[in-house]
Amino acid sequence: MGSGARAATVRNLTDMGGRSGESAPVDPRAASVTVRAARPSDLAAVVAIERAAFSDPWPESAFRDALAGDRMYFRVAAVEGGLEVAGYVIGWFAGGDGEIANIAVDERARGCGVGGTLLDAALQAARERGAETVHLEVRESNVVARALYASRAFQGVGRRRGYYREPSEDAIVLRCVLEPRLGGVAAAP
Ligand SMILES: CC(C)(COP(=O)(O)OP(=O)(O)OC[C@H]1O[C@@H](n2cnc3c(N)ncnc32)[C@H](O)[C@@H]1OP(=O)(O)O)[C@@H](O)C(=O)NCCC(=O)NCCS
Repeated sequence: MGSGARAATVRNLTDMGGRSGESAPVDPRAASVTVRAARPSDLAAVVAIERAAFSDPWPESAFRDALAGDRMYFRVAAVEGGLEVAGYVIGWFAGGDGEIANIAVDERARGCGVGGTLLDAALQAARERGAETVHLEVRESNVVARALYASRAFQGVGRRRGYYREPSEDAIVLRCVLEPRLGGVAAAP
């Protein structure tokens, strides 16, 4: 996913507002995930999630740039009764293609549908903005993320050798073919 060091490469939708969260761990049985546009006040929590999630994290400036970019899709997820910033997704969509540049979920909120909800929101936005395909890169060893993407019909279409740092590792390039008229996701041919 993404550019440079780590090329980075979705359920309910309402607005939550408020500050970055420091709440207690989420109860997966009570989880209700909402997605909204990221705001400057979210950056501290987003950067904290990024640093905990990745060995080669994006710098804060990359998130500021994403907030400022009018063509960027930058959303955060909140969990009702839990974290106000439980995860985020960043992407862009242009010319019939889209890319998921970054996605991560606070360790305390994983396994509750937050990552899937964020990814579904991004895929829906891509579809609404005319994208027919969405690409992303993922570390070959990242079995959890690869399971997430497989669950949304992403399929492998390539490999970038030594793409990631710390540690050096190949990226697997994945593609999702969107099916606009059905509002769903179609497997790549
Ligand atoms: C990958 C990540 C975003 C998933 O977020 P999450 O909120 O835990 O995922 P969800 O609970 O929404 O699960 C979505 C799917 O992911 C897969 N998944 C999630 N946790 C899993 C696990 N522990 N083992 C295997 N598959 C898993 C499943 O396919 C799941 O689908 P299901 O809900 O239909 O079972 C999260 O683990 C994370 O932030 N990881 C670190 C950052 C990262 O690797 N980002 C991706 C970079 S390419």
